Amino acid sequence: MIDVRNVSKVFKDSIAVDQINFKVNEGEIFGFLGPNGAGKTTTIRMMIGLLKPSKGEIWIDQLNIQSNTKKVHERIGVVFELPNLYLKWSIRDNLVFFADLYKVPLKQVENIMESLHLDNKAEQKVHSLSKGWKQRVLIARALLHQPKILFLDEPTSGLDPNTATLIRKYIHSLKLQGTTIVLTTHDMNEADQLSDRVGIMYQGKLVALDSPQKIKERYGKDEVVVEYKENNDLVKVILPLNTPETAAFLYEKMYAGSIINLHSQEATLADVFARLTGSELS
Ligand SMILES: Nc1ncnc2c1ncn2[C@@H]1O[C@H](COP(=O)(O)OP(=O)(O)O)[C@@H](O)[C@H]1O
Ligand SMILES: [Mg+2]
Repeated sequence: MIDVRNVSKVFKDSIAVDQINFKVNEGEIFGFLGPNGAGKTTTIRMMIGLLKPSKGEIWIDQLNIQSNTKKVHERIGVVFELPNLYLKWSIRDNLVFFADLYKVPLKQVENIMESLHLDNKAEQKVHSLSKGWKQRVLIARALLHQPKILFLDEPTSGLDPNTATLIRKYIHSLKLQGTTIVLTTHDMNEADQLSDRVGIMYQGKLVALDSPQKIKERYGKDEVVVEYKENNDLVKVILPLNTPETAAFLYEKMYAGSIINLHSQEATLADVFARLTGSELS
């Protein structure tokens, strides 16, 4: 559905995106993961035709975004951080306005408000809404024309946990209806929960690209957490799983009867990220 071919973006003298390649399959949630400044937003802006790549090509639904921008825009919905809503208008008036613009039946406004639980505040002016409500209106707006592909840039950033969960569930339900979704996030857990595949970006490069599970298996190391007694003190250590050294250590402690607690833990995407880039994500 989406094909990003050898794309770079240079701003003056800095390289924001450095020769990245990836495809997004139909019906997939593709998560773009990386710290601030990694190049996620720049990549999405190029994918939706807001920014011209310095090098490379992007194809959306078999259309080149550069030469078919308008046709591509009929097929995509976009949710960006910057809210472009009419603040003095109510939720319903905003959605009706954009429905007119997209030539979408008005019934669709009611449908979308219902599915995002916006209907009980339909008449409330947008400027008086919390960030989470505004974000839901933006998502509703992006979905009015029932696009095949949805782009979301940090859809849950800065939202309270309940609203973030509601939005994640809604994104998942869109996937179940067949929508192809590209989202960016710096939340490792969100990417892990939602995405069929993730691309980890760091300093403009794609440093890993696969399903969260495969990435954790390939780059992560499973560990074992051991708590044992030593001279009446409780000591806790974390050791790599399945090494001869760990086995010898466990044998010794078990033989002495000093183990209090033992459990293995799977690598997280955050562990993988730290290993791949030598840095932590906030
Ligand atoms: N319009 C621009 N002009 C110059 N530099 C930019 C512009 N947009 C982004 N950048 C730079 O490109 C890099 C990537 O930014 P961005 O794509 O916004 O990262 P992310 O979304 O991952 O936080 C950053 O170093 C940023 O400062
Ligand atoms: Mg960004």
